[in-house]
Amino acid sequence: MAGNVTLAMIKPKAVESGHVGAILHTICASGFRIRGLKMMKFTKELAEKFYEVHQGKDFYEPLIEFITSGPVVVACIEGDNAVASFRELMGATDPKLAGPETIRGKFGTSVLANAIHGSDSDETAIREIELVFSKEEIF
Ligand code: RTP
Ligand code: MG
Repeated sequence: MAGNVTLAMIKPKAVESGHVGAILHTICASGFRIRGLKMMKFTKELAEKFYEVHQGKDFYEPLIEFITSGPVVVACIEGDNAVASFRELMGATDPKLAGPETIRGKFGTSVLANAIHGSDSDETAIREIELVFSKEEIF
């Protein structure tokens, strides 16, 4: 699995704004295959594990608050060079700097409340997929 999969997470604001369908369509139309998919709400504990690497940064507390503020949609997606190609499809962290064709360019609202997350390495992808999915939920 490693190398071909990544974790996509549609963040609370994009879920609340009704963009789940359009974002999943964009992901599939770009050639990714969905191997796991669900709506869930991050607990504070899960959010702290998920964003462990950002602990201590000035945006850490607002980030934990944002990501636990409502349901998210997580997807385990497969494709060639999944991590890098999905990050390209997401666009820059700041939606204002993200290209108009990217998911964050189309659906992001602010740096903190951007529309979507994508893993940043193969190692992180496996870690994040295992944090949010059980083995039985991946097909
Ligand atoms: P992500 O992890 O969500 O895919 O985003 P990323 O790699 O592009 O950005 P990262 O540096 O990992 O930051 C994680 C998330 O934290 C929020 N953030 N806010 N206010 C700020 O300056 C700031 N910087 C980062 C965003 O929600 C970002 O996606
Ligand atoms: Mg990141």
